[in-house]
Amino acid sequence: MNFPSLFSPLQIGPYHLKHRVMLAPLTRMRAARPSLAPRPLNAEYYAQRATPGGLLIAEASPVMASGFGNPGVPGIYSEQQIAGWREVVDAVHAKGGIIFLQLWHVGRVSHSSLQPGGVLPVAPSAVAIPAELKTSTADGQVVSYETPRALETSEIPGIVEAYRQGAANALKAGFDGVEIHGANGYLIEQFLQSHTNLRTDQYGGSIENRTRFLMEVTKAVIEVWGADRVGVRLSPYGVANGSGEADPMPLYSHAITSLDPLGLAYLHFIEPRSSGTGRAEVNHQNVPSAMVLFRPLWRGTLITAGGFSGEAANAAIAEGHADAIAFGRIFISNPDLPRRLAHGFPLTPYNRATFYGGDAAGYTDYPEHSELEKV
Ligand SMILES: Cc1cc2nc3c(=O)[nH]c(=O)nc-3n(C[C@H](O)[C@H](O)[C@H](O)COP(=O)(O)O)c2cc1C
Repeated sequence: MNFPSLFSPLQIGPYHLKHRVMLAPLTRMRAARPSLAPRPLNAEYYAQRATPGGLLIAEASPVMASGFGNPGVPGIYSEQQIAGWREVVDAVHAKGGIIFLQLWHVGRVSHSSLQPGGVLPVAPSAVAIPAELKTSTADGQVVSYETPRALETSEIPGIVEAYRQGAANALKAGFDGVEIHGANGYLIEQFLQSHTNLRTDQYGGSIENRTRFLMEVTKAVIEVWGADRVGVRLSPYGVANGSGEADPMPLYSHAITSLDPLGLAYLHFIEPRSSGTGRAEVNHQNVPSAMVLFRPLWRGTLITAGGFSGEAANAAIAEGHADAIAFGRIFISNPDLPRRLAHGFPLTPYNRATFYGGDAAGYTDYPEHSELEKV
C-alpha cells in the first residue's frame, strides 16, 4: 500500500494541489505606511514562495481598523489595500500558485496607540493580558497590555459584518480563498476561551455560547465565498498572547463538531509545540497533539503546523493524522522549501531578528538552493 506524503496531490475545495507543503500565515509587518497596503516588496516575497499547485496562506490581515495590534501589518478594508493585495495575488498566480488570505481581528492583543482615535482595544470582556507579557506602542515603547473595553452585545453584529466585508474584499482582490484566524489568543479565541470571555449574554457562559461568535463569523464568510473556499485556524493547546483554556477538549470538541457539517475547505491547527508567534523558541515536551486528538471529529481536510521538519511532516501525513503541513519559520528562510524538502537539500537557518518589520533583509533576500550551489 502506498501511503500519502508531502508530495502526493491533494484536492482542497475546487483546487487541485500538486503537493502538501503549505506556507503558514506569517505576520511580517512590512506593508506600506500609512496605507497599510501591500507593496511590490510583499508581492516579490509571496511570488518567491509560490509553486505550481502549491497553497500559500497569506499573513493575517485585519478586517477593520480596530483589528490591528502591530504597526506595518497589511489590512483588507480599504480600496488601496485591495489594490495592493491584487498585485500580490497576480504575482502568485503568474507562478501557478494558489493563495488564501487570513482574516484577522486581534481584540485585546493591541494598544490604544494603535487604535483609531486612541481608544482602548475591544474584547469580549474587560480582561487584560497578564502584565508580564509586553507589547509595543505605535512609537515603539515596550509596555504591558491595557485592560480592553468589553464589547456591547449590540456591537458584535458590526464586527461579524466587518469579517464579511473583509472576505468580500479578498474576493475582489483575486484571492483563491480565505482562512479565518481563530487561533493564537486573538478576538475569536478570546470569545472561545472561558478566562477571556466572562460575558453573560448569548456570546458568553456555556461552551455553545462562547462558540457563537466563531460560528457567526464563519457563516458570514461562507456566504461570500462558499464553504469550500473557506478555512478556519484554531490552536486548542496554544498559549500565545495570554491564551490557554484549562481543559480544551470539551470546548474544541464542540467547536470542531459545529464546524464540521459546514463543509469547509479545511481546518488548520497550530500544534502546541511551537510558540505560536515565533517570538521565542519553545520546546514543549510531551504536549498533546491537536491533530491526533481532534482528527476523529473532523471529516474534512486537516492542515496542521508547528515545528515540523520534512520527515515529521511526511510521518504525520502517512499516519493519517493530517492531510497537509503548513510551514512557518523554515519557509521564511527557504523560499524554495517544497523543492528542498523533495530533494532533501539542506535548509538555511532563519534569523528571528528580522521576522517582524524592516525591509528586504530577512524577507526577500534568503537564497534558493540553486543560488547556494553557485557560490
Ligand atoms: C514571524 C511569525 C509570524 C506569524 N504570524 C502568524 C499569523 O499572521 N497568523 C497565524 O495564524 N499564525 C502566525 N504565526 C504562526 C505560524 O503560522 C506557524 O503556525 C508557527 O510558526 C509554527 O510553525 P513553524 O514551526 O513551522 O514555524 C506566525 C509565526 C511566526 C514565526
